[in-house]
Amino acid sequence: MITKLSSRYAGEFPFLYRCMSGHVHGAGDRDPSLSARSRSTWEIIRRVAVYLRPYKLMALGTMVCAIFSLAFSFAYPKLTQVVVDDIIGKGQANLLAPAMLGLLGAFLMRDVFNSLRIRINNAFEQNVIYDMRRAVYARLQRLPVSYFDQRASGDLMTRVLEDVNSVERVLIDGTEQGTVSILSIVGVLILLFYTDATLAWVALVPLPLLAGGALLYTLTAHKRYRAQREAASAMGSLLMDNLQGIRQIKAFGRHDHEDSRFAQRADELRQGTLGVMRVWATYSPAMTFASSLGIGLVLWVGGSFVMSGRMTLGELFAFVVYLGLFYEPVGRLHGLNQMLQAARASGERVFDIMDAAEERPITSRLDNLPARVRGEVIYERVGFSYAADRTVLDGVSLQARPGEMIALVGPTGAGKSTFVNLLPAFYDLTSGRITIDGHDTSRVSLESLRSQISVVSQEAFLFNGTIRENILYGRLDAAEDELFAAAKAANCHEFIARLPEGYDSRVGERGVKLSVGEKQRVSIARALLKNTPILILDEATASVDTNTEKLIQEALERLMAGRTSFVIAHRLSTIRNADQILVMQHGQIIERGTHEELITQNGLYARLARIQNTTFIEESFEKLADV
Ligand SMILES: Nc1ncnc2c1ncn2[C@@H]1O[C@H](COP(=O)(O)OP(=O)(O)OP(=O)(O)O)[C@@H](O)[C@H]1O
Ligand SMILES: [Mg+2]
Repeated sequence: MITKLSSRYAGEFPFLYRCMSGHVHGAGDRDPSLSARSRSTWEIIRRVAVYLRPYKLMALGTMVCAIFSLAFSFAYPKLTQVVVDDIIGKGQANLLAPAMLGLLGAFLMRDVFNSLRIRINNAFEQNVIYDMRRAVYARLQRLPVSYFDQRASGDLMTRVLEDVNSVERVLIDGTEQGTVSILSIVGVLILLFYTDATLAWVALVPLPLLAGGALLYTLTAHKRYRAQREAASAMGSLLMDNLQGIRQIKAFGRHDHEDSRFAQRADELRQGTLGVMRVWATYSPAMTFASSLGIGLVLWVGGSFVMSGRMTLGELFAFVVYLGLFYEPVGRLHGLNQMLQAARASGERVFDIMDAAEERPITSRLDNLPARVRGEVIYERVGFSYAADRTVLDGVSLQARPGEMIALVGPTGAGKSTFVNLLPAFYDLTSGRITIDGHDTSRVSLESLRSQISVVSQEAFLFNGTIRENILYGRLDAAEDELFAAAKAANCHEFIARLPEGYDSRVGERGVKLSVGEKQRVSIARALLKNTPILILDEATASVDTNTEKLIQEALERLMAGRTSFVIAHRLSTIRNADQILVMQHGQIIERGTHEELITQNGLYARLARIQNTTFIEESFEKLADV
């Protein structure tokens, strides 16, 4: 029984399984899935630029506002010069008030345009985030099941929630602040050289320092940002896993263990973030200091120019204020650089999803299955393996006529679930082919294929919504009486009607507020509503009381009637009625036939069936193994 349990847990609770099998996480180990392929900054910029294209007008709007705001801020140094030289210097007191009003007016216009710019920019930014997030999610949904097998949900969640924000910011702020900064740098430089070329050269002395600092930062920042994003993801993954396993944490009394595991991840994030911040804390003030060096030099040289009469006091004043307008955008460019490095790390993670191969590429020409197939399913020497080094299915063949019930039995890990999961193309075959009514399933569109198949899985999964929503998932536009009919046929109408809120009762995450038997029946109702010619049923193994078992059994019989059904059966009572029973072992079908035929063959199945006092087929397997 232990093997059975542990393999179940491997699917349901991967972490627990690792604990049980002795692979408890060591401190600091990381999910390898969290790493994305390294990409150049240019590639990221090019990719994000695509998302900005629809909003050219908004981009233009922010830029125009920024330029106006900049132009008005240029009035300040000019007016200062006029006030110092012409008004104060020449004692024209009556001009002081109009000059100040003019200055206030210029400030007001600067800030009005700034406010407008911020508003347009916010809308621009949120639109791009919205588009990009939708695109990432849409892509994510269309990736093959195997992609999700390899990755932590918490990691993917962090990418959609956080990384998307970080990656677009750089381009929005980059287009705007970058252009404005460069414009103001160029504008101020012209004014500086126009005022006094020698002094302007003095002001440029710190430039090599600034450029060198920026280069050094850019070259070394990427790995720190990458580490920080990965640490954020690792924490998200652990959190997600633990929230889903909260009952197991409690049952095993692992609060302290999980506290310390979480603390470990949180600490890695703290260290990662501090690593990013520490460098910024040195880099940013160092760059400011380099700028101040320029101001000091200018005042020094400029002061002597004023004393020698080469320039006026007002001109020096204006020069120094202009200089402020020069170094400020330089500082902003450094900030942009920081954002760019963060965006590169996030962009790698986002575009990792966007570039993953879709489930079935749209480029290949695909037919559609007929609107409703008859349900003849043929497996021709189907081979499959999840990973290259281990065959899970080894040349299995099967012919199911329309409406037949095929039961699959066999020990745990034999490949039964894998066998049925290939039919809706959750995974691609390694060899052989599967046809439905003669159509090769690898050549038809997934949409038309999956619309012919209902799946009732081993652990009934319900979405966090109402019972009504969950049943309607089978067919969103079903009418009220169809909904009730399906619920009645699934033997769940009665228990739903007894709930205080009936069909509008909320089921909780994954359906936790319902019992296993109830969940199972709701998921049968959902499948009934979908009403497909082909049915896959991975029978629940959980023991329910005989009455519920009878209700489920009835519901299943109604569900299977008239459909080609593949049933992974655990109850001998279900198996007996099957048209064909396939006995699987080690990825092969070792016996096949009806119950009577298999009994006559006197093989493994016959021996299983002869073992007395069992309800579940697995118990027979275990008893046989003990002999
Ligand atoms: N997503 C997966 N990735 C890699 N290996 C897998 C995956 N799912 C199953 N396997 C492996 O494939 C083999 C067959 O698994 P499968 O789930 O088909 O067994 P099963 O017959 O349905 O068993 P059970 O009766 O316990 O449900 C097992 O050895 C299992 O470890
Ligand atoms: Mg299984």
